[in-house]
Amino acid sequence: MNPMGPESAGAKAFYVTTPIYYVNDAPHLGHAYTTAAADVLARWHRQRGERVWFLTGTDEHGQKIMRTAAANGFSSQEWCDRLVEESWKPLWEHLDIANDDFIRTTQKRHADRVQEFVQDLYDKGEIYKGGYEGPYCVGCEEYKLPGELLDGEGEYAGRKLCPIHKKPVEILSEENYFFKLSEYGDKLLAHYEANPDFIQPESARNEVVNFVRQGLQDLSVSRSTFDWGIPIPWDPKHVIYVWVDALLNYATAVGYNENPQKFESTFPADVHLVGKDILRFHAVIWPAMLMAQGLPLPRKIAANGWLMVGGEKMSKSNLTGIKPQDLTSHFGVDAYRWYFLRAIAFGQDGSFSWEDLTARYTSELANDYGNLASRVAAMVGKYFGGTLPEAMADGEAEKAIHDGLVAAVAEADRRIGDELDFQGGILAVFDFIKQVNGYLTEQEPWKVAKDGSEGARARLATILYTAAESLRAVAILLNPVMPETSQKLWDSLGAEASLGALADQKVQEAAWWGKLPAGTTVTKGAVLFPRLEEKAQP
Ligand code: ME8
Ligand code: MG
Repeated sequence: MNPMGPESAGAKAFYVTTPIYYVNDAPHLGHAYTTAAADVLARWHRQRGERVWFLTGTDEHGQKIMRTAAANGFSSQEWCDRLVEESWKPLWEHLDIANDDFIRTTQKRHADRVQEFVQDLYDKGEIYKGGYEGPYCVGCEEYKLPGELLDGEGEYAGRKLCPIHKKPVEILSEENYFFKLSEYGDKLLAHYEANPDFIQPESARNEVVNFVRQGLQDLSVSRSTFDWGIPIPWDPKHVIYVWVDALLNYATAVGYNENPQKFESTFPADVHLVGKDILRFHAVIWPAMLMAQGLPLPRKIAANGWLMVGGEKMSKSNLTGIKPQDLTSHFGVDAYRWYFLRAIAFGQDGSFSWEDLTARYTSELANDYGNLASRVAAMVGKYFGGTLPEAMADGEAEKAIHDGLVAAVAEADRRIGDELDFQGGILAVFDFIKQVNGYLTEQEPWKVAKDGSEGARARLATILYTAAESLRAVAILLNPVMPETSQKLWDSLGAEASLGALADQKVQEAAWWGKLPAGTTVTKGAVLFPRLEEKAQP
């Protein structure tokens, strides 16, 4: 325990990770989905005033990458370098992903520590030599159980298929090193039992518990038929199984066996965000590896559902044909970041459609949110020369807005920050936006402005202050989701001069009424959500 409390410099960071993605191809909507969710979560916790460490990266070893590189006429390393620099990093930059580090499994800082970790397990008697024969899916980089396989049809008639990739498995027979995973079943079950939030959502938790209850087999942790991997230190004819290599990124990137101070102030992760396709690796193998070393386990594994296309998981081989950049060039980066989290309940599968995104952009972003911001700025300009007036006559209607904001902040903070219910949190903020729109419709400031009396002037000032102050809070609450838009709104409210940088505004304090001081300069800035050009799906 840290006696100095959670905000002291020595406290452990809130540590959030994405999977490290295979670089056999460029990133698609599915990868961007998990990464955007992680970014929103990281930004949310930063705006709680916490120290945050947000890690993403790339998984570069294994047979799948080696084969793709060769098929394209590149060495494995050249292929990885090219994809990382030309596709992966640029997309994250384009999508405003604010990761603190980017780990590549071909980096020495990673490979050396992986060898030490595996050597240590070997020395402890957790790894032994044995033989194995079984069906292997290169797409998953995983041995499959015969019972999970599908019967092939058509071009694959008579063959057994991987249930995820729908491609034939290969029968591998190798002499391998094995990790005694089978000895960890009871300990894992006890951990799931004692930590009901360890695996989220509930359906994912149940799936893992059922899987472990059926009994675990020891895990092959080396491969000897190819060489694109990290050598086993005591027997370098073998390379370390790519999943053992990959999972360790969460430790090597934060100073495992290298920087004890950094490691202790960061590890373990508070949340590993993963797709449900790789849930078992994270909720079974990874914790068992940590138990074997006496290292602490992550607090939560949160599995997102699949983005679907035509009833199938969207993947490199069955894309919609739409790249993230096709969407951002039409809808903008912020609308893109917002859409998938808004439209799909996190943890559930969801389908994407151009029409749905278009409809929500127009009704929720442009009409509800964008119009509110531009109307308020325009009225402060027209009636008060662009200087925010003081609220002088708060009544019942204003009280309802204050209360609505308090409720919206509490709900958004709990749902996004604690529960990873991005949809619920975003909806709480947009419900508040609707409430403020309703307030303006009822108060009719444009009519109040026509009444020349002293009392009417005070009323008008109160209405516009109330709306502007509400927008001040909305800018803060939506900053983790749509940072560029929130900055525009912040600028238009003239908030920076009196309140400081947007990123420094704490979400827990967003509902403190009256923070935006009267007298700030409100300008009708850039339109937050421009009307979409007439353009059909590419
Ligand atoms: O599995 N819907 O990498 P990967 C939602 N290298 N999320 C999707 C998705 C979809 N249709 N398609 C991909 C690997 N994702 C390993 C990980 S971690 C130690 C090693 C997301 O390139 C989702 O997060 O196959 C999924 O788990 C991940 O991309 C898989 O990426
Ligand atoms: Mg995959």
